[in-house]
This record gives sequence, structure tokens and C-alpha cells, in this order.
Amino acid sequence: MRKPFIAGNWKMNTNSATAVALAAGVVNELQDVDTVDVAVCPPYVYLQSVAAALSASNVALGAQDVYFEDNGAFTGEISCQMLKDCCCTYVILGHSERRHVLGETDELINKKLKAAIAGGLMPIFCVGELLEERDAGKTMDVVEGQIRKGLDGLCDERIQAITIAYEPVWAIGTGRTATPEQAQEVHAMIRQLIATICDKSVADAMRIQYGGSAKPSNTAELMAQPDVDGLLVGGASLKAEDFSKMIKTVA
Ligand code: PGA
Repeated sequence: MRKPFIAGNWKMNTNSATAVALAAGVVNELQDVDTVDVAVCPPYVYLQSVAAALSASNVALGAQDVYFEDNGAFTGEISCQMLKDCCCTYVILGHSERRHVLGETDELINKKLKAAIAGGLMPIFCVGELLEERDAGKTMDVVEGQIRKGLDGLCDERIQAITIAYEPVWAIGTGRTATPEQAQEVHAMIRQLIATICDKSVADAMRIQYGGSAKPSNTAELMAQPDVDGLLVGGASLKAEDFSKMIKTVA
């Protein structure tokens, strides 16, 4: 049985006061929930204050990215050890905004995945096709390519630290959610692919989240799909009530 996992990706939102208030609101709403793993991923600069707000709760902390080097002359970057210092458990890697706005490649994401796992973080590894790729019937090829390259060299026991998030780019922040059937089709393909490149027990244990305009009103139908094990939530994670409602729906 895979335990559902719902993570909130706050992206470049909140400020020092609203970040802490949002975290405290989520903690307050979710006091009795222990059947779902929950994480929030604030901007780097609020990790420590959000960590304090989450302390002694069952809500974990994640970051939105990490660099693969341990330290040195990498202006503007953050290492795994720095994230661990800030009490992070998870790190989002390969998010579509990092791929398509900031130009991250599959090779870079692979290095980050390896570094994150070696550094004791649990990656949420994002994949997903653009609208023109879906329209051209290339969804499966694109997602397969991203997974094969992202996980290159990682198909051993280390892979168990990874959650995959399938996020069709056309559904992110657009209000246009993939249908449950569209999500299930790709999730099933991903699980089959993991079974092929790793093995079936790894594939059966791996949690695959859906992301892209997930919200309280579509949580139940998405989570009812057999291969949808959780959600990576952007916009709806910025309201404690909406995010908590989604988690309670799953719990
Ligand atoms: P959204 O973002 O829920 O606002 O569509 C999801 C994501 O980018 O992780």
C-alpha cells in the first residue's frame, strides 16, 4: 500500500509574515491527520521560519530546488547540506518552470537528483509534456525520455527516496486540469516504465503524484485513480483552508 503524499509548492509567493501564517494555518487544520504524508515547499528565504512553524507537527518541509555541488563558488546556489540545516526533508527537482523558464536540462536534473539523494533529501522529481507535445501525440515519449534521463544511474536502492510528479505543463497554473483518465494513463505508463528500467517491486512502491491545477473540487476524482498516489499543488496550496481540504479529502 502506498501512503498518499500531498505537497504544496509555494513557488515565488508569500512574504516573511504570510509564509509563517500559511504554515501555521496548515498545521492547525491538519492536527489529526496521519494517514497522508504532507509537505510544504516555501521559498528558500523562508525555510527556517516555516520550519519553526512546522516543528512538532506532522507537516514536513521541502525546498523548490537544490544545486548538485557541496559548496564553493556557485553564486546564488544552495546546497543539500544547507537545506538539511534548514530542516528540509524533501526537494522538488525538474519542475517545469525550472525546465522551461530557467532552462534546466535532463542532465542537470539527473545530477541534482543524485546529489539530493546522496545528501539525504527525498526528491520530488517532476516530469510532463508541453501542450504542443500532447497535441502531437508525443506525451508518452516526452515523459519516458525525461524519466530515463533523469533517473540515469539511479536504478538501485537509492531510487526509493524518489517521488515522481507527473505535471502536464499545459495544466500548471492554467485552471485546466488533466482529466482523471489522462492522469491515470500517464501514471500507469510511468509505473510500467519504472518496472522495466528498475524492477516491479520498486515500481509498486513508488509514489507518483499528479500536479497541474489540482484543487479541492478535483482532488477526489484524481486520487480515485489507481496509480495517482498524491498531488503536487501550486496555487491551491497558498490557502491553508484549500490545501487542508484536499488533504482531508484524501485522508
Ligand atoms: P498549480 O501548480 O497547482 O498552480 O497548477 C502545480 C505545480 O506547478 O506544481
